Amino acid sequence: MPRLISFSNRKGGSGKTTTTVNVSTALALKGFKILVIDTDPQAHTTLSFGITVKDINTDLSSILIDNKSPEDCTVNTFLGNLKLIPATKRLMEFERNYSKIKEARTLLSERISSIIGSYDYIILDTPPTLSLLTVSTLITVNEVYIPMQTHFLAMEGLAEMVRLIYKINRLYNPNLRLRGIIPTFYKERTRLARNIIDEIKKNLGENIIMHPIRINIALAEAPGYGQPVFQYQLKSHGAYDYYRLAEQIEKGLQ
Ligand SMILES: Nc1ncnc2c1ncn2[C@@H]1O[C@H](COP(=O)(O)OP(=O)(O)OP(=O)(O)O)[C@@H](O)[C@H]1O
Ligand SMILES: [Mg+2]
Repeated sequence: MPRLISFSNRKGGSGKTTTTVNVSTALALKGFKILVIDTDPQAHTTLSFGITVKDINTDLSSILIDNKSPEDCTVNTFLGNLKLIPATKRLMEFERNYSKIKEARTLLSERISSIIGSYDYIILDTPPTLSLLTVSTLITVNEVYIPMQTHFLAMEGLAEMVRLIYKINRLYNPNLRLRGIIPTFYKERTRLARNIIDEIKKNLGENIIMHPIRINIALAEAPGYGQPVFQYQLKSHGAYDYYRLAEQIEKGLQ
């Protein structure tokens, strides 16, 4: 069975895209067949793989709005076993025109069902909202991981995310599980980071905290070159941390 995973948090700039790009690349480097789906109209995951609008004729909005087949909307990346369904701004049209239509929430899950069997992992990046595209993603996946900065203000976003996950689990997707919280922009040995992590463990359990991702300049530079950190700077804390995290995610269900 393929694993369906999303990295989601309604808080902006929490590391969702960086985590999507680099965990999917790490798993592809380990030999797994990966499909990444960019559900964010900002298209940062798409850009981070070096794919720009002029390279794309069809994207996720073509699947959701025009009922194009997902095979026809899948593009190649620098690794043969790592494919991408890109995003464009047109996803905003889906968000705008379909939000009031209840049936639209399950479109994503229905329309990609024909291709999931061709992959080991389907990994979705979500926008920093709790609206239709994020809801559709949580209805589609089985595992959600929340990347979050270890700041007190991030805790409010976490609580909202957890409530949404439970709601979707109850109403739409009994398979959905919150599998982990990923501390991002992590500063080791600061009391604040430790306090936040202790607080999360108290509320969500000891094992919920995943391998932290330290602040690392290579992670911030790599998207500018359209490259995952493993391609841009293999010898970096960023590459090391994301490889460890990917290993942990891989072993999670074994
Ligand atoms: N560990 C890190 N160290 C340094 N810079 C990072 C790190 N993680 C992410 N960044 C940078 O911080 C910014 C925000 O990260 P990212 O885009 O992954 O967050 P996001 O949650 O996807 O944002 P959005 O909510 O806008 O989609 C980006 O410029 C990214 O390159
Ligand atoms: Mg993002």
